[in-house]
Amino acid sequence: MIAIGCDHGGYQLKLELIDFLKEKGYEYIDLGCNGETVDYPDIAEKVCKEVVEKRADKAVLICGTGIGISMAANKIKGIRAALCSDYFSAKYTRLHNDANVICFGGRTIGYGLAKELLDIFLVTEFEGGRHAARVEKIMKLEDK
Ligand code: RB5
Repeated sequence: MIAIGCDHGGYQLKLELIDFLKEKGYEYIDLGCNGETVDYPDIAEKVCKEVVEKRADKAVLICGTGIGISMAANKIKGIRAALCSDYFSAKYTRLHNDANVICFGGRTIGYGLAKELLDIFLVTEFEGGRHAARVEKIMKLEDK
């Protein structure tokens, strides 16, 4: 199950990514917005809650740049959100960081590239091994 959400800056890209999820046969839950002006931290909170409470396996967040919504997402306990605009990062944030949320900038990335990045993000498994201890250290920073 994939949770997806955006602010007004990410709405068009969200529609494209929903088409992609449907084409690939993923189940998804769309938590808004529907094109109206909203505050991206509110969407980040709603969408990330689906992941933290295990109703979704992973999530997609989109705002204008992808920056604000990824900053907000990474404040939530249990979330490892990665803002991606290149293939290597989208793949390695799964392999090495076990990212559970991918973020995009609706005003900074093309639809075709975003779909490729989402594809590799969703099919790539965490490598574990030496990376597991590093991810644990990231998660311990939540207590600081
Ligand atoms: C909204 O205009 C814009 O600030 C937002 O989508 C995002 O880019 C923030 O980081």
